[in-house]
Amino acid sequence: ATGLHNVAVSKGKLYIGTATEMYKLNGDAPYAAIASDINEFGMITAENSMKWDATERTQGVWTFAGGDDLVNWAIANGQKLRGHTTVWHSQLPSWVSSGGFSAAALTSIIENHTTTLIDRYKGKIYSWDVVNEPFNDDGTFRSSVFYTTLGTSYIATALHAARAADPDAKLYINDYNIDGLGAKSTAMANLVAQLKADNVPIDGIGIQGHLIVGAVPNNLQANFEQFAALGVEIAITELDIRMTLPVTPGKLAQQKADYKKVVAACKAVPACVGITVWEYTDKYSWVPDVFSGQGAALPWDDSLVKKPAYDGIVEGFN
Ligand code: G3I
Repeated sequence: ATGLHNVAVSKGKLYIGTATEMYKLNGDAPYAAIASDINEFGMITAENSMKWDATERTQGVWTFAGGDDLVNWAIANGQKLRGHTTVWHSQLPSWVSSGGFSAAALTSIIENHTTTLIDRYKGKIYSWDVVNEPFNDDGTFRSSVFYTTLGTSYIATALHAARAADPDAKLYINDYNIDGLGAKSTAMANLVAQLKADNVPIDGIGIQGHLIVGAVPNNLQANFEQFAALGVEIAITELDIRMTLPVTPGKLAQQKADYKKVVAACKAVPACVGITVWEYTDKYSWVPDVFSGQGAALPWDDSLVKKPAYDGIVEGFN
């Protein structure tokens, strides 16, 4: 098999995917040609256009244009979709983040947002990141407007609303720094175990996978297995492995080994259904905007040329 998605499928996985956005696909034809190539990518995630600030910036006023176009584009290419994301503390419109709600009012707001967004794409989304980034790195719950007002009940509220809106979509909780064993991964496992005990619908754990060259944890597989033992599927949902710039041959070689290591861990755990890269080319990565002096995190370079990391992904499956 050639192409990342084809290689993954040939090894029993469901997909390799990428995050993207319609404005890039419309404005950059060489970029769009690769993103739309089903041999490379069988799954698409909207990088920003399905988030709360993009879809319901004013209460009850909905903007679906970016998401709709991307969903239609992916379906036309034969690609599946992950939905990202319904309840997240970041990229919230100010009418939500400013708070001041009663518990009942905020519960209703969460139900309404989750129901309306997921219903819009009912039957078209493989999996939804229903709750994104609920934890701090020490495994305590993040003090978002949701947690501060509702405690952990907002998580079950969102998951129940999501299941009712699209019974066929896999419902995920998604977070970063839960790649290897550690306090945050333990907290995620405990949360999912509790949700299952409470009969709250939960189908998957999303491991974002924003990693650093030369610093990928060694116990990925053990952690993936601890998640799988809960009876959920897992996916690597936002993989990128950044380096301190400038790029050197040595760093590219380490990055190749790091991609291979992540892919091999997913391959080894049957519950790991697929891997999405958070954009496929360094040209459009979020990393340099947020981490000054870092970047080159993806398997294609700024000029849309495949890097050693690309071969690392293939080798990880072989
Ligand atoms: O849309 C505005 C535009 O109108 C404005 O002119 C421009 C000026 O800065 O900003 C644009 O919004 C930016 C948006 O991306 C769309 O490009 C925001 O400033 C910028 O903060 C936002 O960044 C996104 C980030 O999430 C927000 O937290 C990144 O693109 C996106 O890759 C990143 O993705 C997150 C996942 O959703 C969750 N996990 C972590 C991951 C990386 O941070």
